[in-house]
Amino acid sequence: MKKLRLAVLISGRGSNLQALINACSDPDFPAEIAVVVSNTPDAKGLARAADASLPAMIVDHTYFKGDKPAFENALVAIVEQHRADLVCLAGFMRILGADFLNRFKDKVINIHPSLLPRHKGLSTHAAALKAGDKVHGCSVHLVTGIMDDGPVIAQREVPIKKGDTADTLAERVLAEEHLLYPEVIRQIAEGDVRIKNGRIERTAGLGHHGAFEKEPEAKPMSHAHHAPSTPPVADAQAVQDARDMWHAFTKGSMIAGGAVALTLVLMAVFLV
Ligand code: GRF
Repeated sequence: MKKLRLAVLISGRGSNLQALINACSDPDFPAEIAVVVSNTPDAKGLARAADASLPAMIVDHTYFKGDKPAFENALVAIVEQHRADLVCLAGFMRILGADFLNRFKDKVINIHPSLLPRHKGLSTHAAALKAGDKVHGCSVHLVTGIMDDGPVIAQREVPIKKGDTADTLAERVLAEEHLLYPEVIRQIAEGDVRIKNGRIERTAGLGHHGAFEKEPEAKPMSHAHHAPSTPPVADAQAVQDARDMWHAFTKGSMIAGGAVALTLVLMAVFLV
């Protein structure tokens, strides 16, 4: 049976990416990771992708010098190229705009460390403690152009204990995130959750991929300019080499116009 193809967008540590990698390693899990994309070259999650032999790319937003449409078009091209059905933000620290979200309407979800609509934005654990909340938690929600604002698909609660600090609370919430995100993706893949016109519908028996009207059409990569691919990588040293190459490229490259989409491909040897 065809699996739901995920594009996972990260910016850093990538522990939620790891949870998805682990879930997808189960042959019975109804989704697979088609591509990992980071907007930061130094994201630790890139090594996790390499360890799992997943295609991973860097689209460094700083390279676009404030040209958000060009940045988003580069992301769109990668998601399309890898024929992803669902875009999963996992600690992706950029706010996506119309250029991306209109292309993947109803197909971009995010995980956030609070019980939305409470505590949007950063430092959610400290905010929950400061507010005197008794319960905190995490949410998976549909992404709109407003940060942490889309309709909630599912949540998990975490009771706040006496003596909790932001760190101890964060640790327990993160553990719940790692359970929640794969579970929501499973429900979407199996059609138990359907996303339509910005609304979440809970259904049963829609069948495989019932969450979407149709799969996105594969389009040629016409939107973006593409950077040279790195050599195949399969271990930590190779990831470091690829990063070095990225830094050398971005330092040395003065391409006219400045707004050039740049992707760096880290692919496991057998995938090349
Ligand atoms: C998580 O807490 C997630 O909810 C938030 O950013 C953090 C990312 O952590 N959006 P990681 O990179 O997945 O470890």
